[in-house]
Amino acid sequence: MKKIAITVFTFMIITCLSGMLNAQEKDMGKTLIVYYSLTGNTKTGCEVLQKELQADILEIRDLVNRSGGWGFARSAFGSLFGFHTKIEPEHPDMSAYQNIIIASPIWTGKLSMAIRTFIDKNRFDNKKVILYTTTNAEEKEKYKEKNKDLVREKGGEVVGYFQILAKKEVDEEKVLRTKEEMVADTLSIVSSLEKLLTIESN
Ligand SMILES: Cc1cc2nc3c(=O)[nH]c(=O)nc-3n(C[C@H](O)[C@H](O)[C@H](O)COP(=O)(O)O)c2cc1C
Repeated sequence: MKKIAITVFTFMIITCLSGMLNAQEKDMGKTLIVYYSLTGNTKTGCEVLQKELQADILEIRDLVNRSGGWGFARSAFGSLFGFHTKIEPEHPDMSAYQNIIIASPIWTGKLSMAIRTFIDKNRFDNKKVILYTTTNAEEKEKYKEKNKDLVREKGGEVVGYFQILAKKEVDEEKVLRTKEEMVADTLSIVSSLEKLLTIESN
């Protein structure tokens, strides 16, 4: 009788402990922020997200020189025609992550060439993906859908899309927003991101 009681008790303790462990694992999977940034806006936002979400972060570098007027022109042209580019790293190991935040500036209405190349060269099966963009003007819904489709075609489940504006209208003129304004906007989406990335919320 005593033996049975000890066995039942031990079983209950083990079940309890494994339940607690599972609950912790379920809270929020590991998150990786993958970003490209030419002039620093997207990078600033991603560094805020990294801190707030305690995520890992990875910069995708475009190996083509995009500085100056010529750099802008070739970027706008390449983006407009949907070209890809040379990036580093091409195939980062994302196997440890359940959540991927893909962050990019908007170029000619699309994700930047580096990020489109990154999406094209990788798979996101069984991963939740959130798109985070910085842009001068509000993105139209149909363009957002096209960006989401790129990730879906590579197996990812797009659970959110957030855009941060880099310009605002003052006296009918478009002016750059401050870094502080963009940081404040990014901080304001953190709780929504946390909810979307929490496994039970699905
Ligand atoms: C080549 C190029 C094309 C761009 N095209 C657009 C566009 O179509 N719509 C828009 O709102 N902003 C456009 N922008 C502005 C960027 O999306 C915006 O400044 C963004 O915040 C830059 O991010 P970054 O500093 O991380 O590079 C473009 C910028 C560049 C360099």
